[in-house]
Amino acid sequence: MAVGILVAAGSGERLGADRPKAFVELAGHPMLEWSLAALRASPSVRHVVVAVPPRSPHTRAEEDWLTVVEGGAARSESVRNALAAAPADDEVVVHDAARPLLRPELVEAALAELEEADAAIAAAPLADTVKEAGVGRWVTATLDRTRLWAIQTPQAFRRAALARALDVPDDVLAQAVDDAWLVERAGGRVRVVASGADNFKVTTPWDLHVAELLLRDRRVSGEPG
Ligand code: CTP
Ligand code: MG
Repeated sequence: MAVGILVAAGSGERLGADRPKAFVELAGHPMLEWSLAALRASPSVRHVVVAVPPRSPHTRAEEDWLTVVEGGAARSESVRNALAAAPADDEVVVHDAARPLLRPELVEAALAELEEADAAIAAAPLADTVKEAGVGRWVTATLDRTRLWAIQTPQAFRRAALARALDVPDDVLAQAVDDAWLVERAGGRVRVVASGADNFKVTTPWDLHVAELLLRDRRVSGEPG
């Protein structure tokens, strides 16, 4: 069995709402409730730890399946705080509260890959051509798109590999673009799990609007309880 970690401690600066992003109302529920419902609906996940903003009125009531901790200054610090409070399961799946369109099937697919990998991370193939441009916006290279993936969450980990990867100085944690990078730099084997663009991250007001339209369409079975 696995523990879910939901990181919801960010401020949501780019969204620019009147509260932390994970607590913004989305299709009738605070945003984080959509991810919590998907994690709860994943058969392999038996407990969830959610990291909420420190010293904030925005939090979430605990339940028998849910522990609430304060997050840190950087995203991976929030993950480290949550892992410290997690029950002793051998597998951990980390998810961003900012990806409310999560499906339980994707959580299960990532966890299934841990038979062979230290980490298995959701990722979407790129639809656009990707170029590199430097100073003055002059193009310096056209990259081979077939080898590139846009990385998302959920990211599933063998617990020991994640704990070892997170055991680094705070300045390294602050540099982490995702937790899988910390596992990569510790020599771990990381594999991508094919996902879709529909599992997008709500970053801007436009994303919030799209997520609202998509989630309003979901039937009662998919609603947070
Ligand atoms: N997160 C977190 N702790 C932090 C920073 C981010 O738990 N110190 C979480 C966010 O709550 C979010 C996820 O990490 O669910 C992805 O981060 P991002 O989309 O960047 O969210 P914010 O940091 O809140 O947004 P912004 O960067 O625009 O301020
Ligand atoms: Mg951020």
